[in-house]
Amino acid sequence: MSEFIRVADIDEIPDPGKTLVEVDGEMVALFHVGDAFYAIDDVCTHDGGPLADGELRDHKIACPRHGAKFDIRTGAALSMPAVRPTRAHEVKVEDGGVWVRLRSEASASGPAAHAAVPGLPIASSSAPMTVSSAPAATAAATAVTGPLSEDHVREMLKEVKDPELFVNIVDLGLIYNVTLSPSAESPGRHHVAVDMTMTSPACPAGPQLIADTKRVVGGIPDVAAVEVRIVMDPPWTPDRMTEAARDQLGIF
Ligand code: FES
Repeated sequence: MSEFIRVADIDEIPDPGKTLVEVDGEMVALFHVGDAFYAIDDVCTHDGGPLADGELRDHKIACPRHGAKFDIRTGAALSMPAVRPTRAHEVKVEDGGVWVRLRSEASASGPAAHAAVPGLPIASSSAPMTVSSAPAATAAATAVTGPLSEDHVREMLKEVKDPELFVNIVDLGLIYNVTLSPSAESPGRHHVAVDMTMTSPACPAGPQLIADTKRVVGGIPDVAAVEVRIVMDPPWTPDRMTEAARDQLGIF
């Protein structure tokens, strides 16, 4: 187990305030809120954004890249697009300084990683994760009738769900365009091109989302071929989500 390392003087960081410190070669975001100190990895679990550069409000830090929020007391991910906690570390106040000891893994439901200034009250550590793992609230269309159209394809695409968020890719705002064109090889049928984005370039669910999109759209009788094109410009932002997706994820 690593040792406590002195990283700052108590009066070095305003309350509320934050700074970036190095502990055992790792970059850690250190916070001072409500007379207590907290430390979490300076790494957003969505796509590596620098959390110490984000906006601090109460006990929440917002990633400056796409807006995911984390609880600085536990490291819990509180909002999209992050769904996994970041590591929260042990903190103590001693000899006028703030000391941090690295934890080996994230433990969003574990004890609070904070240290109060001696003689002052300790902040609460409760931080429920608001991302739901319940089944999708938006019913997928399984039987859309009538001639093939872009709307028809979009309805069918609601059957494809992000495996971590359990929200369909249409309501998440991942589908930028659907283009239909007559198939040269199969007269009367269509070639369908789907322009899809990801919440981050390194999205681990990407291959599955592409495969599921091809399977679902390719299963429509009038479709001869499916092409999925990944588009990262413009980048995805949380405001592309529908109200249904926000409700399902508990984002207000
Ligand atoms: S990198 Fe933090 S929200 Fe995307």
